[in-house]
Amino acid sequence: MKLLVTGGAGFIGSMFVRRRMAARPDEKLIVLDALTYAGNLASLAQVKGFEFVHGDICDQPLVERTLAEHQIDAIVHFAAESHVDRSILGPMAFARTNLMGTATLLECARRGGVKRFLHISTDEVYGDLGPNDAPFSEQTPIAPRSPYSASKAGSDHLVRAYFETYGFPTLITRCSNNYGPYQFPEKFIPHMILNALSDTPLPIYGDGQNIRDWIHVEDHCAAVERVLEAGRPGEVYNIGGRAERPNLEIARAILEALGKPESLLKFVTDRLGHDRRYAIDDRKIERELGWSCARRLDEGLAATVKWYQTNDEWCRQVRSGEYRKWVTLNYDNRDGT
Ligand code: NAD
Ligand code: DAU
Repeated sequence: MKLLVTGGAGFIGSMFVRRRMAARPDEKLIVLDALTYAGNLASLAQVKGFEFVHGDICDQPLVERTLAEHQIDAIVHFAAESHVDRSILGPMAFARTNLMGTATLLECARRGGVKRFLHISTDEVYGDLGPNDAPFSEQTPIAPRSPYSASKAGSDHLVRAYFETYGFPTLITRCSNNYGPYQFPEKFIPHMILNALSDTPLPIYGDGQNIRDWIHVEDHCAAVERVLEAGRPGEVYNIGGRAERPNLEIARAILEALGKPESLLKFVTDRLGHDRRYAIDDRKIERELGWSCARRLDEGLAATVKWYQTNDEWCRQVRSGEYRKWVTLNYDNRDGT
């Protein structure tokens, strides 16, 4: 199979590429990534054998060329603007990449005869839950509440429409909150770990009782591989970690793991429209594809804390912005512009 992975330099996409190339070193794999602030080729530094195309999924001629040149059979589409806080400050980039980018990719892929299109979506498209509500199932109505989740929901609708209208073989996964190595520290868990390591206050939004369902990024990627292999076109598969926790509990566990005092916790103004609780019913993927989450949250979190402690060079470059200079030197100036 000749595989195109969009967003392969991001947090989850890079884990997918690392795993895939380790298991199938002879497979032809192309990463297409715009290297926005969230893309970091250092996350792929140890991986050999893939090809990298620096480009934007909204750039139709480039996408067409890439699909044709490499005779792509299947696409795993991770590329997105992914951070809710940024979507509140600047929603247009989310509409552009998540909606227009996905539309461009779908259209090029359909015309280019791609045989499988796996769209990586999120549980946030379902909206939020009260404390006693049943977890989101694949039948839960779509009801996004942030510009990020609305743009992802829009992209899900486009993907579904391509299946219904053209019979184009699309699949959708909707996963809960990921954590693990190489996650950009704007996200909750790495943000808490790095602040704790530098004795900087840990900002807890609102009352800290918002609940997320946490899954290790390797478990998510294992599920994505199962869906790519054996999922039924036209279907949606929820993926979850079966580990619902209030944010405050996670922050406290991180402080404890690092031997830091609770006085570092700092309650701050809440996120606008902050979703209260996410929970996932992932019985469909377990029943149909035999996937279930392998890692326990306490073990995965301990390993993640250790990773950020021991990979201080990756963290230093990300925090200082030095990783961007490297991108600029290697790619932005390639043609002398
Ligand atoms: P990320 O922000 O870490 O990475 C996104 C990647 O996409 C980056 O490498 C970036 O350079 C690239 N990109 C952004 N805009 C692009 C464009 N216009 N053209 C080409 N490349 C572009 O995101 P992530 O956390 O790895 O999430 C990956 C996917 O998984 C997203 O679609 C996200 O919605 C979904 N998801 C994330 C989570 C989570 O907890 N992080 C959970 C469920 C689903
Ligand atoms: O559920 C899947 C989604 O999970 C993905 O689709 C998104 O791409 C991903 O960013 C994530 O969204 P969240 O908004 O849940 O993740 P975030 O890490 O931004 O925040 C997790 C929780 O922690 C949320 O309740 C807000 C809170 N928070 C976050 C930050 C960054 C804080 O209390 N303090 C913080 O500094």
